[in-house]
Amino acid sequence: MQQNGTFASYNQTSSSGGSSGSSSTLQAFFSSAKAAVLRGGLNETNTETVNSLLRLMSHISLEELGLDPDMVQDPFLGALKLHLRDSRIKYMRIYEDHTLTFGLFCFPAGATIPLHNHPGMTVFSRLLFGRLRVSAFDWVVQPPEPITEGSGHRAQLVYDATVEASSPPLVLFPASGGNLHEFTAETPCAVLDLLTPPYEPPTRNCTYYRLQRPPMVWPVARSAGGRAPVGPPLPALGEVVELEVFEPPDSFEVVSGLYPGDPVS
Ligand SMILES: [Fe+2]
Repeated sequence: MQQNGTFASYNQTSSSGGSSGSSSTLQAFFSSAKAAVLRGGLNETNTETVNSLLRLMSHISLEELGLDPDMVQDPFLGALKLHLRDSRIKYMRIYEDHTLTFGLFCFPAGATIPLHNHPGMTVFSRLLFGRLRVSAFDWVVQPPEPITEGSGHRAQLVYDATVEASSPPLVLFPASGGNLHEFTAETPCAVLDLLTPPYEPPTRNCTYYRLQRPPMVWPVARSAGGRAPVGPPLPALGEVVELEVFEPPDSFEVVSGLYPGDPVS
C-alpha cells in the first residue's frame, strides 16, 4: 500500500466491530464533528480536533450502523445483505443539514465513483468492510470557479492505495490531503462519510475529472493493430498531471437506500 505522508490519517489498528463500539460512539463522533463545525474549527489547522475525530470514527462499530460484523470476513455477504446490484452504488443518509452531510456509501464489486472534487470541504472517510482502491489528487494551483470544460488543470497524485477495514480513517481538506479522489471497489464494500460543508449547487458543485487525454495519434494506433489510442497511463505517486472536466458515463449511478443503523441528532 502506497501512502503519501501528506495524506492525513490516524494510525490505528483494526476497529471494525470492536468492543468499544457502544451505542454512544456514533453519536459522540457526530456530536464532536458538529460542535467543531459550529466553532468553525474543522479544518487542517486544528490538528487536535481532527485527530480526535479520526480516533472516534475508527471506533464506531458496524452494529451501530446497522451492519453485520460478518461483512468484514465476507464482503460478498455484505453485498447480499445490502441488496447491492448491478454497478449501482447505494447512498444511505444518516444525517444532513446546511453544515454537514453524514452517510454510508455501499459499493458492489467493481463499482467506481469517478474522480471528483470537494470544493472548500473537509471530508472524513472510513472503510467499514471490503477493499476499496482510493486515488487522490491535490491541485497544484486551485482552478478559478466556475471550472470550465476543455482546459487542463495541474494536480498532483498524493495518495494511491487499497484501503481495507483495518486501515485508519482518512481525511481530506480544501487544499490538502487529496481533495479530489476516485473510489473503485475491489470487492463489495461500504464507506462511512462525513462531509462539511455539504455540496450546495450552484455555488459548491461536485465536478468530475479525468486525466487529460493526449491528442489522438493515429499512426501509433495503426502500428498497434488499428486499435484506437488508449487513455493516458496512471501517474506515479507525487507526479503532476493535467486533469480535465468530464461527464461521468451513464453507467455511473448512485441510488438511495434506507439507513438501517442508529440515528444521530
Ligand atoms: Fe468524494
